[in-house]
Amino acid sequence: MQVSLIILAAGQGTRMNSDTPKVLHKLAAAPLLHHAMAAGRALDPARTVVVVGHGGDQVARAAQDCDETAEVVVQDEQNGTAHAVAQAAPLLADAPGQALVLYGDTPFIRPETLQAMLDARDRHAVVVLGFHAADPGRYGRLLTRGDDLLAIREFKDASPEERSLTLCNSGVICAEARTLFRLVSQVGNANAAGEYYLTDIVELARAQGLSAGVVICDESQTLGINTRAELAAAEAAFQARARAEALENGVTLTAPETVFFALDTHIGRDAVIGPNVIFGPGVTIESGAEIKGFCHLEGCHVSRGADVGPFARLRPGAELAEDVHVGNFVEIKNAILDQGVKVGHLTYLGDADVGEHTNIGAGTVTCNYDGVMKHRTTIGKRVFIGSDTMLVAPVTIGDGALTGSGSVITEDVPAEAVALARARQTNRPGLATKLFEKLRAIKAAKAKD
Ligand code: UD1
Ligand code: CA
Repeated sequence: MQVSLIILAAGQGTRMNSDTPKVLHKLAAAPLLHHAMAAGRALDPARTVVVVGHGGDQVARAAQDCDETAEVVVQDEQNGTAHAVAQAAPLLADAPGQALVLYGDTPFIRPETLQAMLDARDRHAVVVLGFHAADPGRYGRLLTRGDDLLAIREFKDASPEERSLTLCNSGVICAEARTLFRLVSQVGNANAAGEYYLTDIVELARAQGLSAGVVICDESQTLGINTRAELAAAEAAFQARARAEALENGVTLTAPETVFFALDTHIGRDAVIGPNVIFGPGVTIESGAEIKGFCHLEGCHVSRGADVGPFARLRPGAELAEDVHVGNFVEIKNAILDQGVKVGHLTYLGDADVGEHTNIGAGTVTCNYDGVMKHRTTIGKRVFIGSDTMLVAPVTIGDGALTGSGSVITEDVPAEAVALARARQTNRPGLATKLFEKLRAIKAAKAKD
């Protein structure tokens, strides 16, 4: 069944008290918008249309970062949810199959819930996602009779009796695309808010002999973000679920409550994650790898048998092959470490390729930036980089070579060569004692003054 997604993301989100459009605030290191798009993407939609308004260009870019095939339409004035959906009509009014409306600020809808809505389309022309609210507040209320949804009443327009209902509208709605856009074009704005309510399509459908129904999900899935406090609570909820899922999937978390996941973190079975590890976007940890405490990882790939940390930082483009060892106070950025590479201590590798079984000594730095441009360092297989080597890029170290500790390497090193680039040592017998005596005399003279 072909599905088109319509994601409403034009609202400003006044209550966030922010210059940033609401849907770009981050939850689990990803814009809120990406959460809704990820849930929808699980249905393998043929088209995804994002309706933007406030901060339109920024929101459009974020949508395309998540899915480069996403299409964007602009709603210049926010005249209500039906008006927002209508902006997608030029793209989707004749689309075959189903249309599903999601909100960009509602991050926790599960793909299986959306699938249940598509399945319910066999029974109803319009399917609405509802939930039983602990505190129904200002949500739209669902008026039902048996299996049928009769109407959705917005809080502002509801009678006291209707307000006492606890079955509420999540905002997610599904119908055949052609039906949805036909109904939306008939919605008026004669209501308490003077807005075009998407919710009015239920009564319009019924008046035309079409049936409407409800799929009910847990309230936790329909949580919408309106304030920073809600965003913080949503972060806590996301992390609690991500930790539970990781444990369920066979990942060891020694202190689960101190580990923070991103929306797209992938961790294989039997991986071990120590305390206080933070995952930014784009991290994959393969089965059996170990991330020790206090590491910060982003945009990186750690293969089987590798171990990282404690206190290591892997930045975007860090690729660790099998059995790589990265120790404490090591930073790796845009660098490929082949199998068995060891980088034990106090090192920066940026814009580098390191061949298999090479050992990088403590305090090594790839000097990758000349103040204007970035340059690459290429290190071969089974190389030994002595401690405190400065590798001034662009530079290449051949297979099996060795650099002396403290070297500043500015020229390529041939395979199997020893490179020494430091001043030769001189020892002056007895000079230290004489020097100390002289210094003590100076100090004593100063004390007398
Ligand atoms: C809406 C529903 C209400 C439901 C509630 C669930 C309507 C009329 N009401 O109310 O029944 O219980 O959501 O949270 O649909 N948006 C646009 N353009 C607009 C207006 C809204 O893109 O012109 C977007 C917003 O950015 C937001 C979503 O649509 O993502 C919902 O809009 P909002 O104003 O929050 O609707 P509610 O009043 O909360
Ligand atoms: Ca809302």
